Amino acid sequence: MILAVGNVKGGVGKTTLAVNLAIALSRQGRDVLLIDGDEQGTAMAFTELRSAQRDGKPGYTAVALHGKAIRDQTRQLAPKYADIVIDVGGRDTGSLRAALTVAETVIIPVQPRSFDVWGVDQTAELVRDARQINEHLRALAVLNNADSQGKDNEAAAEALRGIDGIELAPHVIIRRKAFPNAAASGLSVLEYDDPKASDELTQLIDVLMVFA
Ligand SMILES: Nc1ncnc2c1ncn2[C@@H]1O[C@H](COP(=O)(O)OP(=O)(O)OP(=O)(O)O)[C@@H](O)[C@H]1O
Ligand SMILES: [Mg+2]
Repeated sequence: MILAVGNVKGGVGKTTLAVNLAIALSRQGRDVLLIDGDEQGTAMAFTELRSAQRDGKPGYTAVALHGKAIRDQTRQLAPKYADIVIDVGGRDTGSLRAALTVAETVIIPVQPRSFDVWGVDQTAELVRDARQINEHLRALAVLNNADSQGKDNEAAAEALRGIDGIELAPHVIIRRKAFPNAAASGLSVLEYDDPKASDELTQLIDVLMVFA
């Protein structure tokens, strides 16, 4: 699978989901390449931490790439890996556009808050543009950092269903301490003691596998 995790909005959980997906897929014995497409380099920093704690073996390969290099390198490296996960920076639409031209699926994390939901229109527009080149690009919005109760998740889901050209994942990812805490230790939530967070990540992977 070639997965991009992207949203023009920052701070929505792109890097969190990208590293968790990379680790989850690698734990299934798949050869995974994680591309850090964000100048902030958070996915690389996470990988260095993970690597240091695991005898230099994070379980996947990570590279930092920006702009058109994301597209060119993904094309070139795709035959060598079972999966490529691209963490795309928030503000860098050049890198996001490049990733969207080569990805099979773009996962769009969205927080169920009004400004965040409105911002998805802009990402959806980039997705529709990319389909002129990458006809079969699938776009899957995922509610992340969602409330464990209340009506905001459903309100956000309803608004997202109205956006042309993107699908909505059937499960939400709740705001759980396990996500930042696991990341701070170089771990995925699958390696951390929170079965609910693990289940949510696993459900997302199951949906992606059906897509693939
Ligand atoms: N499901 C979740 N539960 C709790 N915290 C979360 C969850 N998802 C993300 N976070 C936290 O939200 C913050 C932003 O997440 P992250 O850095 O992954 O977002 P991003 O979209 O990559 O941001 P940027 O645009 O800066 O790259 C982090 O502190 C992260 O730990
Ligand atoms: Mg990030």
